[in-house]
Amino acid sequence: MSTEPNLINSNTNPLSLFEEWFEEAKKSEINDPNAMNLATISSDGKPNSRIVLLKSYNSRGFIFYTNSNSKKGRALENNTNVALNFHWKSLQRQIRIEGAVSVIDNYEADEYFKSRPLGSRIGAWASMQSEELDDRSSLLHRVREFEKKFQNTNISRPPHWNGYVVKPNLIEFWQDMPFRLHDRVEFKKVESKWVSRKLFP
Ligand SMILES: Cc1cc2nc3c(=O)[nH]c(=O)nc-3n(C[C@H](O)[C@H](O)[C@H](O)COP(=O)(O)O)c2cc1C
Repeated sequence: MSTEPNLINSNTNPLSLFEEWFEEAKKSEINDPNAMNLATISSDGKPNSRIVLLKSYNSRGFIFYTNSNSKKGRALENNTNVALNFHWKSLQRQIRIEGAVSVIDNYEADEYFKSRPLGSRIGAWASMQSEELDDRSSLLHRVREFEKKFQNTNISRPPHWNGYVVKPNLIEFWQDMPFRLHDRVEFKKVESKWVSRKLFP
């Protein structure tokens, strides 16, 4: 067992290791290698989760965009503790991240918003994400209304559409191994340094 190949390197920076695995996932996943589960806690203490797309990551953390008035937006406002989970089936790997979320600055969100396709920018205005929709025609009606409103003008970023950054304090790497003797390494921030340990599968 001690000679098993390709064990996770626990003497590395977890953000570099994230990058390495993410680059591999981009090559092997059939779609959305940047899809991640985002778990939040509501004001009445209930957990909830959904998939969002990782749009960038850097030394500050992991960035995604969403509607701040949505169910998740309200949960994030109430409790900044979140968890992310990437599962790359093609690689039989999982990365779990825990951390605290904050809203990114307006300039950065504006820049990203501008880069989105026209339809997605209109959609961000038209969708009252997580609100009850009586009929799909109401959504399409709102799309047409906003198309009219923004005809021949710049589509500004809706004030309720924001970027969020998750600053990680724990990152766990999981790699499938034979006989369910999976390999797990957890990195935890302790006094601003990453400390690693292996975990039983
Ligand atoms: C592959 C995939 C990617 C998604 N990406 C996003 C995203 O980046 N931002 C977002 O707000 N919702 C995204 N969604 C939709 C969310 O999963 C969810 O339905 C929506 O945000 C409403 O969630 P809420 O009611 O908990 O706020 C995505 C869904 C899937 C399946």
